Amino acid sequence: MEARAILVPSNGLLVGLLGLLLTGPGRLVYNLIPMLVLGIESSCDETAAAVIEAGRIIRSNVVASQVKTHAPFGGVVPELASREHLDRIDSVVNSALEAAGVGLDDIDGISATRGPGLVGSLLVGLSYAKSLAYAKRKPIVGINHIEGHIYSTVFENEPIIYPALALVVSGGHTSLFLIPEEGKYGTIGRTRDDAAGEAFDKVAKLLGLGYPGGPVIDKLAESGDPAAAQLVFTVPKMNSNYLDFSFSGLKTAVLRYVRENQISPVPSGAEPDHVIVDLAAAFQEKVILSLLWRLRQAARRHSPKTIILAGGVACNSGLRRAVRSEKLGAPVYCPSPILTTDNAAMIAAAGHRRLALGENDGFEISAAASLKLDNIVLDGYELPKTARYKL
Ligand code: KG4
Ligand code: ZN
Repeated sequence: MEARAILVPSNGLLVGLLGLLLTGPGRLVYNLIPMLVLGIESSCDETAAAVIEAGRIIRSNVVASQVKTHAPFGGVVPELASREHLDRIDSVVNSALEAAGVGLDDIDGISATRGPGLVGSLLVGLSYAKSLAYAKRKPIVGINHIEGHIYSTVFENEPIIYPALALVVSGGHTSLFLIPEEGKYGTIGRTRDDAAGEAFDKVAKLLGLGYPGGPVIDKLAESGDPAAAQLVFTVPKMNSNYLDFSFSGLKTAVLRYVRENQISPVPSGAEPDHVIVDLAAAFQEKVILSLLWRLRQAARRHSPKTIILAGGVACNSGLRRAVRSEKLGAPVYCPSPILTTDNAAMIAAAGHRRLALGENDGFEISAAASLKLDNIVLDGYELPKTARYKL
């Protein structure tokens, strides 16, 4: 606990000295610092708080999901999301502290998501985190949600070896990052239209399967026969060095199939028939093939030492199976399902690194709805001027 005391920001000189030591050759040592970090996440429709010790030990991880609120609308309603975050943030943070058996005074630093996400939702968590930091004189860092997803793999795996390759597939993002060293991110692929999770949600809505679509389609796909539904879709050719994705054509292919075969959406509460089950399996198979195709190319091109599969869609059992059985030349780290969808443990883990290095973003930090993760430009990955990207 001695090292923890050293990191309290009131002792600025010692923090600075330690930060200096840790940015040198001993950089990795920060993982050994037994800081307690409070993480707060509210970028979309989960209000979450967690307490993490030494960057890798989960003392508590509380997630309040808003799925019930948004399900009738088939997607997240931003105004409702912000309001619900506001209602729940206080009790979620208190539950996380209580479950960890600590009080705010025991916390060494606060780590909150600052983007990307819904700006109203982000503001609730970030403002709450800033008030706590101000009242308790704690350092605070604002974390990129995508970086959080990447850090969701640190709890149950061996330490990440660099260069690493990360495929982040969620409701808002589908991106491939090359991470030559910790904290440095270069984008090597991204979706040009819908994110993979968004495609799952839209197809599920179309078929009357409810929201969120990913888990339902995943379950149906287990018993469906993808070959039985003759879903015609080939991944479009993309003229760029980027290992880009595209899912909107697949969504249109499902729509066309539904119209041509006069398939009606499943009525609320009814069991889907085999036509829907097979179509769900066929759709999921195509998504997996698209993701695997790019992951394989990326692994071949960059020979990473660790491959990270993260984000809500990484919960998908078919995708996990397919990625694990693929020979990619490096171990694949994938978080367990509870850490795969949005949570604050991953935000605290990403924040731990920066707090242990003595960083403090201060109270000026603001939410950024379109925050990017890239902080390096890799050779051969200059953005083509004509392509449109969804970031
Ligand atoms: O990471 P996440 O919780 O939130 C974002 O950052 O977007 O991801 C949510 C997305 C939703 O689109 C949801 O349908 C999808 O992850 N998802 C799944 C599964 N579980 C959640 N997609 C496919 N299979 C699943 N089992
Ligand atoms: Zn997420």
